[in-house]
Amino acid sequence: DPLSDFIRGLPKAELHLHIEGSLEPEQMFEFARRNRVALPFRTVEEVRAAYAFTNLQDFLDIYYQGAQVLRTEEDFRDLALAYFRRLAADGGVHAEIFFDPQTHTDRGIPFQVVADGLLAGMAAADELGISSRLILCFLRHQDEDAAFATLRAAEPYLDRITGVGLDSSEVGNPPSKFARVFQAARQRGLKLVAHAGEEGPPDYVWQALDVLGVDRLDHGNRALEDDALARRLADQGTTLTVCPLSNLKLCVVPSLDAHPLGRMLDLGLRATVNADDPAYFGGYLLDNYVRVAAALDLSRDQLVRLARNSITGSFLDGEAQAPHL
Ligand code: HPA
Ligand code: ZN
Repeated sequence: DPLSDFIRGLPKAELHLHIEGSLEPEQMFEFARRNRVALPFRTVEEVRAAYAFTNLQDFLDIYYQGAQVLRTEEDFRDLALAYFRRLAADGGVHAEIFFDPQTHTDRGIPFQVVADGLLAGMAAADELGISSRLILCFLRHQDEDAAFATLRAAEPYLDRITGVGLDSSEVGNPPSKFARVFQAARQRGLKLVAHAGEEGPPDYVWQALDVLGVDRLDHGNRALEDDALARRLADQGTTLTVCPLSNLKLCVVPSLDAHPLGRMLDLGLRATVNADDPAYFGGYLLDNYVRVAAALDLSRDQLVRLARNSITGSFLDGEAQAPHL
């Protein structure tokens, strides 16, 4: 298919990808078997049938349950490597992957097991020609103390962690709740990102900018409800990591042809396309581009712009970006 071939050929970075959200049902069964973890499902079909969500929390409940099969360093390495192989097949050249340490440390898996496994997967990806960075996300439904404890656990790894992010249940957990932990992360030289404006109001996007001082914004859909906010994002050139199929599956948009990505580009926002949790939302990076491009009738110029935004919006330095531009 010409559209798909054209997009595959564009060098692309993925900037919004939860590695735990790349756990395919087949892999969930494999890890459950080798780790002797009981699952509430008998078949892959039963698992996929459970992936019918009406909002973010519906998804999060099942996503945290799935993550329980991940126990060993090898699990985390295999999970990451499977994702990077898939990214390479989609014409991806670079990924900045999120991980949720609290999901694992809270059930007794040491931080080092998670981090060493993911870093081993990233080293193997290098051999495939895929560069990558790691972003530690704090779970916003937990408290500030828990986030600080996670930052402390990460201390020995901070030379291998590029930034911190904020994910999980958005409404009721504003960015301001994590002002001090983000300030501490900044003092340690980390980049800052946060999910905002997926389900939460424009005020949460203002807070991500003004209280946290994020270097990049994850989702940002609802920023378009506030003209001054959209102008601010355009003027300061903030990169938005937009996730079309995630938005569809979590009912953030009623259909892909109602997706705001086209409007974002028209407003001069630096939008990018990303998969978020591909195993749960029914598509990896290339599928996200192809389906939103078809639904919104995006031009080749717009697709080139989206791919370029993903490179320039990455945390790679200029020299490392250059070969992809
Ligand atoms: N939003 C918030 N938290 C998440 C998401 C998301 O899309 N995916 C994984 N954790
Ligand atoms: Zn996300």
